[in-house]
Amino acid sequence: MSHVEQDDYSNHLDSAPSDFSQIVEKGLNRRRFLQAATATSSVAFFAASPLANAMARPPKNQSLLGFDAIATSTQDTVVVPAGYKAESLIAWGDPIHPNAAPFSQLNTALDQELQFGDNNDGMTFLPLSRQRAVLAVNNESTNYADLFEDKGATLTASKVHRAQAAVGVTIVELQRSHRGDWQVNVNGRLNRRITAYTEMELTGPAAGDGNLKTHADPTGTQVFGTFNNCANGATPWGTYLTCEENFNGFFGSHNKIEVPEKDARYGINSGDGGFRWHQFDERFDIEKEPNENHRHGWVVEIDPMNPHSKPKKRTALGRFKHENAALTINKNGKVVVYLGDDERGEHLYKFVSKNKYNQHKPEKNRDLLDEGTLYVAKFSAQDAEMHGKGEWLELTFGKNGLTPENGFNNQAEVLIFARQAATQVGATTMDRPEWVAINPKSDQVFCTLTNNKYRGVREGQEVNGANPRENNIYGHIIRWEPKNGNHTSDDFFWDIYVMAGNPEQYPNTDLRSGSNNINKDNMFNSPDGIGFDNAGRLWIQTDGDYSNSGNFAGMGNNQMLCGDPQTGEIKRFLTGPIGCEITGLTFSPDNRTLFVGVQHPSQSFSAINGIPRSTVMKITREDGGIIGA
Ligand code: FEO
Ligand code: CA
Ligand code: CA
Ligand code: CA
Repeated sequence: MSHVEQDDYSNHLDSAPSDFSQIVEKGLNRRRFLQAATATSSVAFFAASPLANAMARPPKNQSLLGFDAIATSTQDTVVVPAGYKAESLIAWGDPIHPNAAPFSQLNTALDQELQFGDNNDGMTFLPLSRQRAVLAVNNESTNYADLFEDKGATLTASKVHRAQAAVGVTIVELQRSHRGDWQVNVNGRLNRRITAYTEMELTGPAAGDGNLKTHADPTGTQVFGTFNNCANGATPWGTYLTCEENFNGFFGSHNKIEVPEKDARYGINSGDGGFRWHQFDERFDIEKEPNENHRHGWVVEIDPMNPHSKPKKRTALGRFKHENAALTINKNGKVVVYLGDDERGEHLYKFVSKNKYNQHKPEKNRDLLDEGTLYVAKFSAQDAEMHGKGEWLELTFGKNGLTPENGFNNQAEVLIFARQAATQVGATTMDRPEWVAINPKSDQVFCTLTNNKYRGVREGQEVNGANPRENNIYGHIIRWEPKNGNHTSDDFFWDIYVMAGNPEQYPNTDLRSGSNNINKDNMFNSPDGIGFDNAGRLWIQTDGDYSNSGNFAGMGNNQMLCGDPQTGEIKRFLTGPIGCEITGLTFSPDNRTLFVGVQHPSQSFSAINGIPRSTVMKITREDGGIIGA
């Protein structure tokens, strides 16, 4: 079925006007754009787009979304539809080894190393058998207000050590209980914590470059730790990909210093994000170790099946504030990874491996992510239309102006300063690319553009077709399809799957009413985590404004929704507790258990001694059925 759609779609787009590639980013007439956009927003721009037209053949009388949508919530709990249940699987500080200390604010770093990390985010379920599995989970950050009794008012070396132990990744074995549900096995042989000081290796084209050398590592290849591990990916050869996002917040300096432009672009400055690691650990002091920050901001590949394996930072995938890594094996066997850079006005990337995936010899795939080509996306649209063509621009030294005259001396520098390289080649600035997800039932790829208050306000972030709203407070989800279904193609076609909005506050008045698949019953803002299940349902998680007032009235706490990629239908599936974002999702292979992350709840959710805790929830159906069906 998906192949038929694919062919139809390609035919449709082949007949698109030939002047379609006209770029509107620079010369866009704002008023004309708004007129055009207003004319479509209140009617049916979802259905009007070429991608939607090509696909809009839903099976009659049968929705892909088989559950009863739930209302918004401002309760301090997780709510799921009738017939479903949500239970805690594991929370921050829960033991992952039999001799672990119980959770307490007085725990040491060594205690924390034997416990589940803080602020769980992206995660992957890796089955070992019908009864056993491994869950790899990112621990993005830690909150001093909850971590320390004094809320971090005073800091010591041992407190910083403990904070460093609270972040990174947790790998934990699961097993089915006699009831048939998945539970943590604290005795699991594979259980492991990876922290901000675990030994790892820099690999690929940038490894060993002068920009990666430090006093402690004159080779530029050995690095300690990973932190701000946002979302994730997984490979068909059984490894886990953890993505380093806002690494800059962990660096600072005692003396206020002038930071080179190449580092300022990544947000590096003398003031850190409040973690103050540089006061007790010199490698985080940018004055003393100006290159240490270049060793973070990568995608890290971890072998969860070998608890002694050394994680590898794959420099071929570029350095930026990585959200997740959506990987697919293209029809020609090449590995393609789509990558978002979550910052206002940053970019969307694609990696294509040099070598092909070998299904029969798993060991041959181990280093596929070390060699290949990195690209960055340029979106075009005709006039102000919210669909069009796109192009992947190659980020290879010597091409597209990536030359010494423009500040790039070799491929290592192109990768380490990928943001500058993207600007050099003329990539489109985006409204904060968060997660990317590939529909297993088609060749379509979706990306959340969570919000961007600078759109239409700051230079370089002019309104364009792919980012069509000035001061985009609600966010949207863009999607594209590679030409001829070939993910290695330089060309793609795109449209917008949903524009979040508030049709109650802005009834048909402007773009803030959202696309026509948004209504008073499914409103949300700031889409972030996304993923597909086996049947091709699109699951959408939010990390937005939960004030439930003003522009955000009627939206409640952060939530998870489910969308039909063909019809555009979207229904609310889950609501989170107060203060949290909902982030991280993975399914058991039978799709009868869904794992969902509740990150940084602020009141009493999962609390011990009054300390709320980030938690991985497991969602099942009371009748044991498939989630969402
Ligand atoms: Fe860690 Fe972009 O969210
Ligand atoms: Ca987060
Ligand atoms: Ca996120
Ligand atoms: Ca976010």
